Amino acid sequence: MFDRIAHWEGVYSTKGEKEVSWFQEDPAVSIEMIKQTDATPDSAIIDIGGGASRLVDALLGDGYRDITVLDLSAAALEMAKARIGPASAQAAWIVADVTRWKPARQYQVWHDRAAFHFLTEEADQSAYADRLKKAVKRGGHVIIGTFAPDGPERCSGLEVMRYRPEEVHAEFGPAFQKVASCGEIHKTPWGREQEFVYCYCRVPE
Ligand SMILES: C[S@@+](CC[C@H](N)C(=O)[O-])C[C@H]1O[C@@H](n2cnc3c(N)ncnc32)[C@H](O)[C@@H]1O
Repeated sequence: MFDRIAHWEGVYSTKGEKEVSWFQEDPAVSIEMIKQTDATPDSAIIDIGGGASRLVDALLGDGYRDITVLDLSAAALEMAKARIGPASAQAAWIVADVTRWKPARQYQVWHDRAAFHFLTEEADQSAYADRLKKAVKRGGHVIIGTFAPDGPERCSGLEVMRYRPEEVHAEFGPAFQKVASCGEIHKTPWGREQEFVYCYCRVPE
């Protein structure tokens, strides 16, 4: 059986930050979408499958004070903490598989770039949606970036899902209001283009 933790621990223990296809120097689309929400510096923001992403650096730099990064790879989170240095203590770090995680609190903003699309089984997608519904406050915001229909069929050697923004929205049920969506052409560190979509939904009050 596929061992998800072993796969991702293997990736982050053997590759440098810029040796993975999803590396972004500047997570500009994510930041722009988070700024579209009504999040204040004290709003709780969680980055699901955040890995070693620089989103947390950018959010800390923008003055957000309640940031959590969740990933099933401890090595990924250690890489991010080492890069950020002492300021990493200002964020919370959770090592967990999002499909099994038991959220201990709620968040105003749920962000996920390129983690949800690795869930190819319906049971995992529905476990993800259950956690999301428990973890996001009423009136909160959900921003999910996935591969687009014309994006790659595999990533990190694994099969992935590809979505239209309305299909991402449909995963969470009609109570969620779709606020915005956009596409992005991500360039890997070796110059290959990957088509992403981002879907931003709002949880009703
Ligand atoms: C392609 S990387 C994207 C990392 C980061 N979001 C970024 O944009 O740089 C996918 C990440 O999702 C994490 N991941 C995959 N499946 C997961 C799961 N079930 N629960 C938590 N994290 C998961 C991996 O460890 C990896 O860090």
